[in-house]
Amino acid sequence: MKQTYGTTPDGAVDLYTLTNATGMRAQLTNYGAIVTSLLVPDREGRLGDVVLGFDRLDGYLGKHPYFGAICGRYVNRIARGRFALNGVEYSLARNDGDNHLHGGIRGFDKRVWKATEVAKPGQQAVRLAYSSAAAEEGYPGALEVIVTYALTDRNELSIDYVATTEADTVLNLSHHGYFNLADGGAGDILKHEVMIEAARFLPVQADLIPTGELRSVQGTPMDFTRPAAIGARIDSDDRQLVCGTGYDHTFVLNGRSGQLRLGARVYEPSSGRVMEVLTTEPGLQFYTGNFLDGTITGKRGAVYRQRHGLCLECQHFPDSPNQPQFPTTLLKPGQTYAQTTVYRFSVA
Ligand code: GLA
Repeated sequence: MKQTYGTTPDGAVDLYTLTNATGMRAQLTNYGAIVTSLLVPDREGRLGDVVLGFDRLDGYLGKHPYFGAICGRYVNRIARGRFALNGVEYSLARNDGDNHLHGGIRGFDKRVWKATEVAKPGQQAVRLAYSSAAAEEGYPGALEVIVTYALTDRNELSIDYVATTEADTVLNLSHHGYFNLADGGAGDILKHEVMIEAARFLPVQADLIPTGELRSVQGTPMDFTRPAAIGARIDSDDRQLVCGTGYDHTFVLNGRSGQLRLGARVYEPSSGRVMEVLTTEPGLQFYTGNFLDGTITGKRGAVYRQRHGLCLECQHFPDSPNQPQFPTTLLKPGQTYAQTTVYRFSVA
């Protein structure tokens, strides 16, 4: 179902509502490819919104930390906003201290996408297309991106990405939803229990650029191979947690990248809600909303304070264009970028 959502400087945008056979509901807009709400049953069958965001379009047009959006062309950081490709040096916006973050000043999260509703048996979906001109935000190559959000009768929000380019470029896309399975962001996420299918993570420097090392999680607060409450170790004096002011790290997912596999599972004890994240990507950015500081009032008047939301962003590793030992984020003409990520809900 489609309804008018409002007007942006680039024209009118719509709000799409997807529902499934069990009553789950997702709403999204073609502004920023943003998922604005996600109603998920708790263990009593009561629906609750589990994502942070705003009641109206206005909120999304203002400054906010990428709530629910698709980030691109390069989600996460590129050191000093610089990389070289085929002997040419490219320079990008430094919009996060000295580094480039989430595609720059006007990334994909601030663009109007072209939407088409697509119905299939067992799911409702919206296909969002965006054409990014060569040199947009400093990146080479005209790029065509299609992101399809589908809500399935198996209580999954699935996100399919494909992209092609007209010239060699770099690409790293991700959905940047902030989840709070208890109350949608009115309170903190510290009691959520998290399991991450990763034996290694990427340690970072103080500015959150990876050092290049793939380090074992064993014996560190980064070990989520067995479920642990987020709050259990987040305030320890571990150097990595101090750098991130909490968790803000890429986990190197076990298994083969390119294959859809379980990346993480989150359980919230008060509601009984469970969220599993499946992905084809090599990395998972686990971010605990450390930069939320109470200055944003979101849906239903909730004040989003530090650690009121958590992100599990499936993506390639940060700064890959400058770290040749990381899986490549290079995309050439004739190749197709493809990613599938699924957020699957249940109760326990
Ligand atoms: C990502 C980053 C964080 C932060 C948020 C947006 O998750 O890893 O450091 O920049 O986006 O606030």
